[in-house]
Amino acid sequence: MEQFIKAKDFLNSKGIANAEIGIVLGTGLHQLLNHVDVKQTIPYAEIPNFPVSTVEFHKGHLIFGTIVGKNVLIMQGRFHAYEGYTMQQIVFPIRVMKLLGIEYLFLSNAAGGINLNFKKGDLVLIDDHINLLSGNPLSGKNYDELGSRFPDMSEPYDLQLKSLLQRKANELRIDLKKGVYAAVHGPNLETKAEYRYLKIIGADMVGMSTVPEVIAAVHMQLPCVGVSVITDECDPENLKPVNIAEIIEIAGKADSKLSRLFIEAIKGL
Ligand code: HPA
Repeated sequence: MEQFIKAKDFLNSKGIANAEIGIVLGTGLHQLLNHVDVKQTIPYAEIPNFPVSTVEFHKGHLIFGTIVGKNVLIMQGRFHAYEGYTMQQIVFPIRVMKLLGIEYLFLSNAAGGINLNFKKGDLVLIDDHINLLSGNPLSGKNYDELGSRFPDMSEPYDLQLKSLLQRKANELRIDLKKGVYAAVHGPNLETKAEYRYLKIIGADMVGMSTVPEVIAAVHMQLPCVGVSVITDECDPENLKPVNIAEIIEIAGKADSKLSRLFIEAIKGL
């Protein structure tokens, strides 16, 4: 707890207070930042006890500002298990954002489409998830100050936030699909056999993030919602090699749709 509080105090000393909404921007997603009235941009490396992002294309900054007059804290770049971070490190910023006051958490990611109705560039509302990561951010001694030992996971994604996003997608005429997200460790993409397996166990999309943050949010009873951008189609019978550059490019194409959706949802909170 002392480590979380030290990071919070540092950010308070930079004028960051009364945050209302936390936002995590996934791989290749940054257009939302063009709609933020930025008050502070703080490199992760300056924040006490923050892990430091190692992958070049993940710019590690915490951004504080306003969107339609609401105070937002934005993580530009998140931490992944494949980079070698522990689950506890991955969720550290989420816990600090909660201590800074956020009442809602919006998450985004790039994901592979297991459900073949999903096409590259589609936005998919995360309805539920399957945790295939090794480890859990809640393992070890429970932080009773943050939440209970055995948090309920019957509705990890907030029902009201999900319906808000669906309503706003309709108004914006954005085709927002819905699916189950499976989180894997990475960094390699999956084999054909693994894509078959993911489909059988009920996954609609697959990626390497988000689930730890959601577990930490649920633990703190912080309502959260997540959207995946489909960057590749994972058809085991017709699998084409993909590379990360392509994934980032496709995410970039869906970026403005996602940012419009998040902004309209934030307006509606
Ligand atoms: N698998 C895992 N993570 C991903 C994928 C994928 O196919 N696409 C984007 N992130």
